[in-house]
Amino acid sequence: MLKDIYGNHVSTSSRAALAKFDQALRQIRTYHGDPIATLDAALEHDPQFALANVTRAMVLAQVTDAMFADEVQRSLRAAAPGAMNDRERGHFAGAMAWAEGRFNESTSIFGRIAQENPRDVLALQNAHVGCFFTGRQFDLRDWPLQTMRAHKHGDESWHAILGMAAFGLEECGDYARAEALGVEAIDAESTDAWAAHAVAHVHEMRGNVEEGVGWLEGTADGWSTDCGFAYHNWWHLGLLHLDRLDHKAALKLYDERVRPKNDANVVLEMLDASAMLWRLHLEGVDTGDRFERLARVWEQKAEDGIYAFNDLHAIMAFLGAGRMGDAERTLKAMRLAAEGKTDNAAMTSEIGLPLAEGFIAFAAGRNVEAVEKIARVRGMAQRFGGSHAQRDVLALTALQAAIRGGMQSTAEAFAAERLAHKPQSPWAQRLSRQAKNASAGARAAAN
Ligand SMILES: [Fe+2]
Repeated sequence: MLKDIYGNHVSTSSRAALAKFDQALRQIRTYHGDPIATLDAALEHDPQFALANVTRAMVLAQVTDAMFADEVQRSLRAAAPGAMNDRERGHFAGAMAWAEGRFNESTSIFGRIAQENPRDVLALQNAHVGCFFTGRQFDLRDWPLQTMRAHKHGDESWHAILGMAAFGLEECGDYARAEALGVEAIDAESTDAWAAHAVAHVHEMRGNVEEGVGWLEGTADGWSTDCGFAYHNWWHLGLLHLDRLDHKAALKLYDERVRPKNDANVVLEMLDASAMLWRLHLEGVDTGDRFERLARVWEQKAEDGIYAFNDLHAIMAFLGAGRMGDAERTLKAMRLAAEGKTDNAAMTSEIGLPLAEGFIAFAAGRNVEAVEKIARVRGMAQRFGGSHAQRDVLALTALQAAIRGGMQSTAEAFAAERLAHKPQSPWAQRLSRQAKNASAGARAAAN
């Protein structure tokens, strides 16, 4: 039986198909190239290659975009009759679970595959991404750490294990170890977009603005070309510019790197676009017609209701564009999704809906309601996925609502928390002053 680049047995007898599959594994590992096209090429050589079909399904499923649902199902149907060993059957079960909206079960299945087969980097990656989407921070950290035992310096997989461990460590607040492993990963493989990203997160969380800018600009040659994740690393650079209060640089990055094509409908890119514009909007920066241009694309996904984290970001775009009707349309779809049986139903009812209602209240000027709804779930919002840096938009919105609503103590509380985490950030310092001034203003108005 043939083996893949990591040494796992695969159920194909076609060396040509395996060569393409291996190439796809490399692309998936560094987020470069087009793994779907490469998997299609593998399947041309061996249409019965079940794991290639399953992997194709999983790559598309984890985009969390309803427009791929039929294609995911087609790939899974194509995989079903093919020969599979136990490990490959695990992949099939994991992909089926994800496709059916059982995100946690899928994530656990892939995590278990990686425990049993620590050389299965693909399973670990599927588990890792699943942890990210479901807010399983400890598994995000621990599964890569467990897997390190089967990889060593010099293996082509080494950087990927380090990069995943680095991101998991960062999300668990272990910044020093996260940075060390992330830097080592980039030393081993400069194209590893995920490892570069993990270190960017460390700088973001510590508020090390200048170091973060230096890191991303210094590593960009490795991760910025032909990379399906580059827009997100550029988004992180934009966040650091926001911390510097350099709104012009953030907008330039938005236009050139995060959202270069107005009609692009890549949902993960649209999330970052919404998140960047919303932060600028909170700061009162004129973003021109960017919200409207973005809302025109979110419009097509307004009622998908497959992942609450996406829905909230659609709502941000609609609110920023002044499209209250579309925001309400998404809210209605979320209420419907909350009644379902998928994991997203729980994510939506527990976290997504209160946040969506809070953001809509904020846009309508109902600041006290906005603070109440956001603050109530913010501390457990990892349950609907994303990173600390992404969910920071919740704290920023609640803080602005508290300032505008004259909730002096609450505004100062959010601002103090921010400054404690990011003492060097000019933005955090300014928000702290604004919170104090708002309090003074509110006190003066009350007397
Ligand atoms: Fe990130």
